[in-house]
Amino acid sequence: MTTNNIQQNNGFNLGNGFDLNAAHDLSSFEPEAILAAVPGEHPRAAAALALGREASQTGHLDVAELSRIASEIYAEGFPAGAFGNSNAFGNQATEIPSTASLSDAREPEARNIASKAHPYAVPDFKSVGFSPDMQALPFNRNATEAFNHAGLADLSAVYLQNSPNLQNQVEISQLLGGMDVPYQSQLNGLLAGSNVNSAGSKQAENNHYYFLQGLPSADLNSSSAASNPAFSTSTHPAFNADLVRKDFPILNEQVNGKQLIWFDNAATTQKPQVVIDRLAYFYAHENSNIHRAAHELAARATDAYEDARETVRRFINAPSVDNIIFVRGTTEAINLVAKSWGKKHLSAGDEIVISHLEHHANIVPWQQLCQETGAKLKVIPVDNSGQILLNEYQNMLTPKVKLVSFTQVSNALGTVTPAAQMIQMAHNAGAKVLLDGAQSVSHMRTDVQSLNADFFVFSGHKVFGPTGIGVLYGKPEVLNDMPAWQGGGNMIQDVTFDKTVYHEAPAKFEAGTGNIADAVGLGAALEYVERIGIDNIAHYEHELLVYATAALNKVPGLRLIGTAQDKASVLSFTLNGYKSEEVGAALNQEGIAVRSGHHCAQPILRRFGVETTVRPSLAFYNTYAEIDVLTNALLRLSSHKASNGL
Ligand SMILES: Cc1ncc(COP(=O)(O)O)c(C=O)c1O
Repeated sequence: MTTNNIQQNNGFNLGNGFDLNAAHDLSSFEPEAILAAVPGEHPRAAAALALGREASQTGHLDVAELSRIASEIYAEGFPAGAFGNSNAFGNQATEIPSTASLSDAREPEARNIASKAHPYAVPDFKSVGFSPDMQALPFNRNATEAFNHAGLADLSAVYLQNSPNLQNQVEISQLLGGMDVPYQSQLNGLLAGSNVNSAGSKQAENNHYYFLQGLPSADLNSSSAASNPAFSTSTHPAFNADLVRKDFPILNEQVNGKQLIWFDNAATTQKPQVVIDRLAYFYAHENSNIHRAAHELAARATDAYEDARETVRRFINAPSVDNIIFVRGTTEAINLVAKSWGKKHLSAGDEIVISHLEHHANIVPWQQLCQETGAKLKVIPVDNSGQILLNEYQNMLTPKVKLVSFTQVSNALGTVTPAAQMIQMAHNAGAKVLLDGAQSVSHMRTDVQSLNADFFVFSGHKVFGPTGIGVLYGKPEVLNDMPAWQGGGNMIQDVTFDKTVYHEAPAKFEAGTGNIADAVGLGAALEYVERIGIDNIAHYEHELLVYATAALNKVPGLRLIGTAQDKASVLSFTLNGYKSEEVGAALNQEGIAVRSGHHCAQPILRRFGVETTVRPSLAFYNTYAEIDVLTNALLRLSSHKASNGL
């Protein structure tokens, strides 16, 4: 399909007799000759080649320098003539990502040409040679190496030079108990369910690090991941954070002269290039209103939008695209259910049960509904770790309860609730369930059929997609039993002045012109996550979280809020002597973005006696090195107060 067409369309002669379409085999050319033939100057590429030459002569490759050059090339972008529409490398450049990353490598023309049922359909990545999951990429098992690769050693060193109290750069591995490679082999073993250890065993003994409680004790001398049999038997393909980082251009940003460290993922996630490109492509080639015209662009836009709906369906394993309603985000999805299902099914004397962990978006719409209907709002308490008290919950599940609405992952504490069990308990009591997936969907596999929730809601921007788009999933029988909530175009079959006949779901709930482009962007984001593999993401992030938890626990005066055994992504804390905003501002000086405040979850913070916390939150593009930078910054803040007698 694509390659021949692309070659014909993009026949490209460099003008100096070096016709790359004719010259399929480039191996006979010296690298310098190829470089010289590519239009435009590229001093970085020349520097990289020089480094390679030196390596072949001396046997020593300066990996840090190479990595730095590669980052600069990526940050600058490639010369348009070489890798853009005028495809200097013919077939090859269409199939090999210029970043060697997981972004879709195809140029816009390739997208258009890709074969599918409809001529304007968004092409299937797999049809152009991408496998759905990343396979066999080398996992950077060495935090120090990652540190150097990311150029963060410099950042931290500069930071510490300015520190009055920390003369030398702090080795986090030493803080964690003198381990050579912090946690790597231990975590591999723990997560593969095998009997290994080190700092992990110390934590288990001390009963201090909640993740590791009850885990088998281990051999402190076990050092490398490679020598750990647990690693080789891991069911997870290897994952390389350094590689996926290249897909996110914003991670190259400088903030206050430092490389950005994005630890505000619970608020919103960054977008891979493939999503940015998809949005631009939509507006450049497909933009039209949908569903309502016989012209070509309407067909393209409609296909793109409906393909995105199918991608969402697949991503959360819904039975049908008819269960997927596009909305603005989690907040709008919950409001839709409250205003439509809630108004129809609740009346005075009924009860709605939520948990103490909820985001305001999962509190306020139910309060409003209670005010309108006379129903009562009940709250499931949590224990001191921030986990749901299941016995209390069970006691609340009387026949009065019509709806239970709770989060799968707490945005303020990171607690992962026992969702499947809680849903089953609610169903046993005859209640419907809404599960808030805003904080879970980017961190763990979602299977709405096995979870068995009646509603599942999430926001696109928290799963590497655009803002202003989100999803309400509903079981068919529940959606069919709901009145439309907004009226207007798109959702009707027929309108007279006497009456209106509505479409079935999902159109019934999508009145007016929706956020077409961003729905398409969300589809691209979810396909991107599929290519990495959500299980790989969950596995890597869990290791990061364990590492970060242990590191932050070593900072004097730091109190972690939220210590449930089952946690994802979030590390909420207070630091003695500082307001949360002061910590946030100090970290910002170091280029580190964290949230400080009440996180739109005031009730749960007050449950722990605080009004605000500092909240770093992780995504799969974060690294051990970044956690080291954060920890060092917090150690400095902490020691500063200590030296002032606070
Ligand atoms: C658990 C949870 N629910 C709901 C929301 C609201 O999401 P949005 O603002 O995207 O509608 C958030 C946002 O942080 C959240 O974390």
